[in-house]
Amino acid sequence: MDKLIIQGGFPLHGEINISGAKNAALPILAATLLTDETVTVSNVPHLHDITTTMGLLGRMGSELTIDERMNIEVNNHNLRDYFAPYELVKTMRASILVLGPLLAHYGRADVSLPGGCAIGSRPVNLHLDGLKSMGAEIHVEGGYIRATANRLRGAKLTMDLVTVTGTENLMMAATLADGMTIIENAAREPEVVDLARCLIQMGAKIEGAGTDTIFIHGVDKLHGTHYTILPDRIESGTYLVAAAMTGGSIKLKNTRPQLLDAVIAKLREAGAEISHDDTNIVLEMNNRRPEAVNVHTSPFPGFPTDMQAQFTAMNCIAKGSGTITENVFENRFMHVQELQRMGARVRLEGNTAISRGVKQLNSAPVMATDLRASASLVLAGLVAKGSTVVDRIYHIDRGYETIEEKLTLLGAKIKRVPSALLN
Ligand code: UD1
Repeated sequence: MDKLIIQGGFPLHGEINISGAKNAALPILAATLLTDETVTVSNVPHLHDITTTMGLLGRMGSELTIDERMNIEVNNHNLRDYFAPYELVKTMRASILVLGPLLAHYGRADVSLPGGCAIGSRPVNLHLDGLKSMGAEIHVEGGYIRATANRLRGAKLTMDLVTVTGTENLMMAATLADGMTIIENAAREPEVVDLARCLIQMGAKIEGAGTDTIFIHGVDKLHGTHYTILPDRIESGTYLVAAAMTGGSIKLKNTRPQLLDAVIAKLREAGAEISHDDTNIVLEMNNRRPEAVNVHTSPFPGFPTDMQAQFTAMNCIAKGSGTITENVFENRFMHVQELQRMGARVRLEGNTAISRGVKQLNSAPVMATDLRASASLVLAGLVAKGSTVVDRIYHIDRGYETIEEKLTLLGAKIKRVPSALLN
């Protein structure tokens, strides 16, 4: 297993390109299962989760071609299997996104139940309830969701909770259903909107994506298209926090500042000067130490849970005390104990991390436990005294394209080392 070694204390300066959004690419690759024609997807980030999704599609019989610029062409006209095995689903919960498309297009799907996860129990009951309301027969046996349907029927679906992949699964399933589906209390995340735009380009009839009510008029067939994925707002936010923590100045190119309102507002509150146009963001911290902020996570357009760990790390070195309250997941604070090992004065009270910032963190060997937690440990390493070793970085490779290259471009001292070389 690779590790990252970070020598702290170098402010970030310079510019980097932001990659395509993982959380849009995953449902869009699953959406290719809705048509027999070729779908080409561009601006796909080079990430483990994308490789896992391609592996999943490939073993079901998808024909995939990929060029050196990560344009992926998918054709499913020879699909022979409708099966997502436990070995893949346990490494990537988003595999559940094939359930809706398989059922809608092929009338059957066997998908492993995702099971537990480092950030909470994360059930998929709302995905299943929605599909049942659309006429699917679903049995859970042997750890697998076994679903069959003739043609799904349009239905009115009122979601008990806002769920991102739940909304996406049901929206995809509804594109080929008989009649109209209404999803109430739908997720409004930009990645849901990106998926809807791709589906519309494939011939789907969808209105209201980006609001809490989505209307989908089912059609008989979808067709191929060429779609370009939107930029990753969480990757963007992570580099902005990295620059703010180190007192640096950076420019992010090819991003979408309008999708980062809640994050930018909190960074300004922390003392960052931020300017942007439609595709670039400039953050200047001018060697200042950030001020601690109070954050409450909530579904979009609120403050994203996927930025919670990074802000927790920032508060640990900020001036004053701050609170970070996690409202979306039940157990998303695994990074707190690791930050404590680096000298952070942070404690948990229920779903809130309360911190009093210290001037300097100290390096320590730390362990990544999930994707965003690992990002927060890298950020802490950038400002810690000495050399921080972050172990289990396969988590970070799931969501950050070439993180050490991008940080090196910005002047960080970071290298990847195969763990065998460290033992
Ligand atoms: C997606 C994102 C993830 C992000 C999360 C919240 C992808 C691939 N992943 O995950 O990065 O952190 O949204 O913004 O897009 N829930 C249920 N029953 C369900 C479904 C969800 O109780 O059937 C609960 C979950 O346990 C959680 C909450 O709803 O507490 C929100 O989860 P959800 O939006 O579904 O997260 P994901 O779609 O898995």
